[in-house]
Amino acid sequence: MKQRNYTIRLEREEDYRAVEHLVRESFWNVYRPGCSEHYVIHVLREDPAFVKELDFVMEQEGRLIGQNMFMKTIIQADDGRIIDVLTMGPIGILPELKRRGYGKALLDYSLEKAAALGFGAVLFEGNIGFYGKSGFDYAG
Ligand SMILES: CC(C)(COP(=O)(O)OP(=O)(O)OC[C@H]1O[C@@H](n2cnc3c(N)ncnc32)[C@H](O)[C@@H]1OP(=O)(O)O)[C@@H](O)C(=O)NCCC(=O)NCCS
Repeated sequence: MKQRNYTIRLEREEDYRAVEHLVRESFWNVYRPGCSEHYVIHVLREDPAFVKELDFVMEQEGRLIGQNMFMKTIIQADDGRIIDVLTMGPIGILPELKRRGYGKALLDYSLEKAAALGFGAVLFEGNIGFYGKSGFDYAG
């Protein structure tokens, strides 16, 4: 993205409604008729695994244009090890601003912050066309 005409900051409680609206707009009719991701985010914020330090919104000229969030989760390995990782999403960008580099900018920023907090892996289900550009690959 050539011009950095946005800011990324933590979501605040007064953003909740606008963020849920944004998520609904982003996901509406994309994967199925309608969507439920705005409800998912509404519920997940209350979950103890929700990572408040990684709950990001992207803002442009006073308007919220994107959001991303993470949950703490674990991998229970076959050898009994418990490995702390993150799951990510939903991540969404306002429909009229898709495919202009905002999503990648938000994703890369979020991942940097997650790494800085010490998380070594992020799991999610998603579109490899988008996530592949930030270095993700399919899990075996
Ligand atoms: C997915 C989403 C967050 C991507 O944000 P975006 O701002 O549109 O994406 P970007 O413009 O930053 O794209 C970054 C790269 O990913 C690719 N990409 C983006 N969306 C893609 C898609 N749906 N399919 C294939 N490739 C995609 C772009 O080609 C771009 O690569 P390029 O820079 O080499 O051209 C956004 O489109 C969105 O909100 N979609 C609906 C909700 C959704 O699907 N969320 C993800 C859940 S898995």
